[in-house]
Amino acid sequence: MADRFSIIQEVQKFLTEAKELYFHGTSSNLAKNILSQGFTPDPKQKVWSQDKGHLASFVGSYFTQNVVTAISSASGAVKKFGGDCAIFFVQLETRTGLYDEDDITDVSYQVSQAYKDTVSRNNFVPSIARGLLKSDKYKSVVDLAITKWVSYYNKYDRGEYQQKLAGPALSRLEPLLRKWIETYILELSKVKDDFDSERFSAYPNANPAMRKAVNNVMNAMRGEVSRREKKPDSLHLGGLNIRIDSPIGFRGSNRILGLVTYPSDFRKDYNNDDDYVPFTVHYGEVPKKFLAAWENRMGYRYKLIKK
Ligand SMILES: NC(=O)c1ccc[n+]([C@@H]2O[C@H](COP(=O)([O-])OP(=O)(O)OC[C@H]3O[C@@H](n4cnc5c(N)ncnc54)[C@H](O)[C@@H]3O)[C@@H](O)[C@H]2O)c1
Repeated sequence: MADRFSIIQEVQKFLTEAKELYFHGTSSNLAKNILSQGFTPDPKQKVWSQDKGHLASFVGSYFTQNVVTAISSASGAVKKFGGDCAIFFVQLETRTGLYDEDDITDVSYQVSQAYKDTVSRNNFVPSIARGLLKSDKYKSVVDLAITKWVSYYNKYDRGEYQQKLAGPALSRLEPLLRKWIETYILELSKVKDDFDSERFSAYPNANPAMRKAVNNVMNAMRGEVSRREKKPDSLHLGGLNIRIDSPIGFRGSNRILGLVTYPSDFRKDYNNDDDYVPFTVHYGEVPKKFLAAWENRMGYRYKLIKK
C-alpha cells in the first residue's frame, strides 16, 4: 500500500510541477557568495540598485531562458563588481515564480487609450490626468483601461492556445489592477507640465507609489509566468524571464545545477579559427541546452575546463 501511495504522490508531483532550466548571469565576485549561501532574494549589492531610479530591480532573483539576456547581465555585473562573467544554471519550478516587472505591459498605454483612442501615452499629460480626476468620465475610463489591459494580456502574453486569465483569477487581480491604474492617474496628476511629464509616462516605476502598486499586481499574478507564451525568436522576450522571491540553494525543486565563468573581454582575444572561449566549470554540469544556445546565438567556439 505504501508503495502505491508513494507512486500516486510521485505522479501527482509530476502533474503539478513545471520544472525548467534557466540561466542567471552575474560576476564571479558575487558568484563566490552565491556558491556558498545560494541566491538571496534581496542581496546587499545589486546591479540595478536604487541609484537607477525606475530601473531598480524588485525583490527577487532574476533568471532567463534567453542566453543573450544572461550573457549581457553577466557583463553588466562585471562592469559594476569586476571579476569574470559567471553564468549559473538553475532548475526552477516555474509555478513559484513572478514576472520580471519589465515584461508586463505598463498601464499607461491602456489609460491613454481608454481616455481617447487618439491619445498616446506621451500625450496623456498631467493636466489631462488632473482634469480626468475631477470628471464624471473618471470611473468609466478606469474600467475601460482594466478591460483593455486584460485583453492585451490575454492576446499577446497568454498566447493563442493558452487558457485565458478569467474567472476567480481575474476577480482577485481586478482590484489591484484598478489600484495600479488609479495610482498612475493620481501620481501623474501631481507632476509638473513640462519635461517631467514625459519622463513620468516613460518611467512610471520610478515613483514609489507606482512601484508598490505594480508589485502588488505582480504578487497577485504569482505562477502566471509559467503559463505565459514563450516566443524565443521574437522581440517579445517576456516569457523567457522569471523572478523568484524565495532563497534558492542546492536542494529542492528550485535549485542550482551548475556554474561556469569566462573572461569578460573574450571577444578581444578571439581572432582566428583556432581560438575559443574558455568556460571554467566551478560546479555541477554545463547543460547541453546552454552550449547549443551559446553556439547558436554567439557564434564563438568554447572549451570546457574543469576546475
Ligand atoms: N541576471 C540575469 O541573468 C537576468 C535574467 C533575467 C532578467 N534580468 C534583468 O536584469 C535586471 C537585473 O538583474 P540582476 O540579476 O542583475 O539583479 P539585481 O540588479 O537585483 O542584482 C542582484 C545581484 O546580486 C547577486 N546575488 C544574488 N544572491 C546573492 C548572494 N547570496 N550573494 C551575493 N550576490 C548575490 C545576483 O547575481 C545579482 O548580480 C532585472 O531587473 C531583469 O530585468 C537579469
